[in-house]
Order: sequence, then C-alpha cells, then structure tokens
Amino acid sequence: MKIKNICCIGAGYVGGPTMAVIAQKCPHINVTVVDINSERIAAWNDEDLSKLPVFEPGLDTIVKEARGRNLFFSTEVEKAINEAEIIFISVNTPTKTYGKGKGMAADLKYIELCARQIARVSKEDKIVVEKSTLPVRTASAIKSILDNTGNDVRFQVLSNPEFLAEGTAVSDLLNPDRVLIGGDTSPEGVKAVNALVEIYENWVPKTLILTTNVWSSELSKLTANAFLAQRVSSINAISEICEKTGADVNEVAKAIGMDSRIGSKFLKASVGYGGSCFQKDILNLVYIAKSYGLEEVANYWEQVVIMNEHQKQRFSDNIVQTLYNTVSGKKIAFLGWAFKKDTNDTRESAAIKVADNLLNEQAEIVVYDPKVSQERIYADLDYLNSRTSEENRALLKVLSDPYEACKDSHAIAILTEWDAFKTYDWKRIYNNMQKPAFIFDGRGILDIKVMENIGFVCYKIGSGD
Ligand code: NAD
Ligand code: UGA
Repeated sequence: MKIKNICCIGAGYVGGPTMAVIAQKCPHINVTVVDINSERIAAWNDEDLSKLPVFEPGLDTIVKEARGRNLFFSTEVEKAINEAEIIFISVNTPTKTYGKGKGMAADLKYIELCARQIARVSKEDKIVVEKSTLPVRTASAIKSILDNTGNDVRFQVLSNPEFLAEGTAVSDLLNPDRVLIGGDTSPEGVKAVNALVEIYENWVPKTLILTTNVWSSELSKLTANAFLAQRVSSINAISEICEKTGADVNEVAKAIGMDSRIGSKFLKASVGYGGSCFQKDILNLVYIAKSYGLEEVANYWEQVVIMNEHQKQRFSDNIVQTLYNTVSGKKIAFLGWAFKKDTNDTRESAAIKVADNLLNEQAEIVVYDPKVSQERIYADLDYLNSRTSEENRALLKVLSDPYEACKDSHAIAILTEWDAFKTYDWKRIYNNMQKPAFIFDGRGILDIKVMENIGFVCYKIGSGD
C-alpha cells in the first residue's frame, strides 16, 4: 500500500515534532497536522520560527524545510481526515479529574471524540494509529467505535507509541532507539503494519523497527515510562541517604552506573521528576493493576510516585528549615521553572510544587526561566487553586534577567538544570544578595566548592558534606 497522505490529530509536543520529522524524511508524503486549538495552529504557521508553540532544539530548521512543501498545519480536521490514508491520533490523555478513576485513570474523552469523528468523516478504508499514550486494550474501544459508528468502511487500528523526550525530541525522532508498532495479525492487520513500517524505513534502520501485537505495544509504552521514573525515584531515595551519611549521590550513581547491567542513564538525582507523562502514566498503570485486582502490583508502582512527591516536599522543607525556620517575607529566587532543560514545557514541573509550598509559608518568590513565559508560570500556580490569582501575582514575580531576579534575595533555588546557569557570574550574584546567602541546588549542577569559596551557604541535592 503506497501512502500519499497522512493526517495527525493533535498539534502538541508530540504531534508537531513527530510529523515535522516524518515530513522532512518523506518528501513524497503530504503530512497535515490538525488541531482544534486555532491559536496553536496559527503559531505553527507563524513566519517567525521563534514563535513555534513547541520549543525543541533543531525543530525550527526542520519546520522551515518542510512547511508548505509537504508539511501543513490546519484547523480543518475533517478535510485532513478525509484525505488521509493514515491518521495518527496524538491528542492529550490526561489523568481523569472526575468520576470513576479520578486522579488515576487516563481520561480518554479526547481519544473517543477523535474516533467518532474519524468514523463519521471517513468514506474510504483507513489506518488509524494510536500515537498518544493509552491504557492497554484501548485499541479495542477505538475499533469498536470506528466499526459501529462509521460508514461501512474498514479500519485497522495500530499502536505506535512515541518515546521521544522533550528537549531532545528532534534527535530522538531522527535516531530512535527503536520504533514500536503493534498491530493485528490478520492479513489486513499485517498490511497496515507494513504500510507504517515503510514510512519509518525512510530513515530508521529496519532492525530498529519492532512489531508486536497491539496490547504489548500499548503496555510497553506505560512500562517504559514506569521504569524510567522508577530509576529517578530510586536514585532520589538514595540521595536522601547520601545527605544523612556524607556519601555523594553523583559518586554513587557513577559507581553503580558503570555496572553494565544497571547502566548510567536516568540516575541523576533531582528535586523530583516532572513532565506531563511520568506521573500520569504510572498512575494509569496503577489504576489498570487495581482494576484487575492486582493490589501488590499497584502498590509497588504507586510508591514511585509517592517517593517523587516526598522529594519535592523535602526540598522545600529544607529551604524553610535552613532559613531559620521561617521564610515569611523573605525573597527566594527560583532559577528555572521548566520541568527539565531545553524545553518551555512546565507540566508537573517540580518548581510548581516547591513554589506552592514556599508561598504557603509566605515567602516572596522571584522566578527566572530562559524559556517559560510569565503567563505560563501564573497559570501553573492558579491551576493549583491554593490561593487567588491576585495573591499569586502579589507574592510571585517573574523577571527576564537572572541577575535582577537574584538581587536582594535571601536564597536561590535551582529548579531546572539549564546549562546557562553554570556560567553565571556567581560572585556578582553573591555580592548583591542578602547575607548569609544561601543556594539550594535541586539539580546538582553547581560545583559546591567553588560556590562555598565565593561565600554561599550551599545545599546540593544528594550531597552529604
Ligand atoms: P499536548 O497537550 O501538547 O497536545 C495535544 C493536542 O491535541 C492539543 O493541542 C489539543 O488541542 C489537541 N486536541 C485534543 N483533542 C482534539 C480533537 N478532538 N481534535 C483535534 N485536536 C485535539 O499533548 P502532548 O504532550 O503532545 O501529548 C499527546 C500524547 O502523547 C499524550 O498521550 C502523551 O502521553 C503522549 N506522549 C507525550 C510525550 C511528550 O513528551 N509530551 C512523549 C510521548 C508520548
Ligand atoms: C519521558 C521519557 O523519557 C520519554 O521516553 C517519553 O516518551 C516521555 O516521557 C513521555 O511519554 O512523555 P520527558 O518527560 O520529556 O520524557 O523527559 P525526561 O528526560 O524523561 O525527564 C523526565 C523528568 O525526569 C524531568 O523532570 C527530568 O528532569 C527528570 N529526570 C530525568 C531526573 O530527575 N533524573 C534523571 O536522571 C533523568
């Protein structure tokens, strides 16, 4: 089957970059990314590439090359569905905030809406690809909706989860560890899988394209995120022991990471993992386990999330305790708000929880982040509903100059590991702070000895001395 037109529903952090790379690598295929959010689509179409709605190193170059050639961003969802042979569903699947499974299960309402719309609009056979992260067995629900509400056309549902990480999305997409495609084993299913394999083969070696049954593919995505998050929680648990014992978590991580069975990646202790997916996907896994009555399995994975909450809480507790048990009226500068470096995404960022805790203690916070907007920061805080919008705006300020942000502060907290922070003129920052000047490095990026020599009182995550 020769694919000429692809449609992707959802122009977010996954849909945008993923389709941009497919379009770049497959100039013979038209790729249309659609979204109901017209502002987002307008931003994807902005002539000024610095205004793209997703900041990812290297993405602007790819969009520049393919946009208008065979990459299109549009709000005309039905037209794009109609014209495409393959439709990727890449919409958000947040944790449910209501009803059964509230706070745990994935909310599939956007997925169902897409399935119903595809069924209603399609006049020819289509391949529907789950790109969003979904609970295992969602494909059967999608297939049922497609088959029962459609126009007697045939649908194949494939699972093709995305493993890109934000900040490195472009290189992850260009050089993936693997591409996973789950499909039906019927002849039509195999044909659909092969059609998708052929697309990836334009730039991914065949040996890295793994095909499985649909359920294995869906479950592998949740499992991958659970394992990655578990490593972060594991090293964060050890970071607390390090702080009590004088061990250094970076040295421990290096020592264990050199064991090829353990490996060195994802062993960086931090103030806690953030991002839109780790917590959501583990909670989803916990919910699935619970729904099958697997209490021990559910409890095992839930502990990863509990540990992460603890890490954020103990970071803010430590700030309060170190500042003589009160931060009321004290200025604390936050360097970083994004959930990791090289992204403007703040979803579930540890900074939000740490700020909320400190604001509850009546601290005055000043935030600097090189990529996150003031509106985003206030929206993150307002979403918590801990206090009114006016109170948030009175207590927390956002500045566009890090030196100004740190000026007159009692303490600096590093919440994101932006590389630029390492090269700041720390002596100048120190000279303009209240004394004693404290620094709380929640990302372990600073050289404590250098900072102490300048005069800072330092806390570095996972460092006991
Ligand atoms: P996102 O919120 O950035 O983007 C989703 C987009 O879908 C939004 O722009 C929204 O307007 C749009 N949308 C929702 N319903 C729609 C509909 N009916 N029609 C048209 N557009 C609609 O989300 P994201 O971060 O791109 O994540 C999407 C999925 O990919 C999630 O399931 C997530 O778990 C998964 N995922 C995310 C990442 C990541 O790094 N963000 C990585 C791998 C997988
Ligand atoms: C993660 C996975 O890495 C991707 O494979 C997956 O596709 C994606 O989730 C998803 O499904 O959304 P992402 O959340 O973008 O990607 O970023 P990560 O690099 O995994 O970082 C997640 C969080 O863990 C960040 O807050 C990061 O700072 C933290 N982290 C990561 C640590 O604290 N220590 C580490 O060693 C690694």
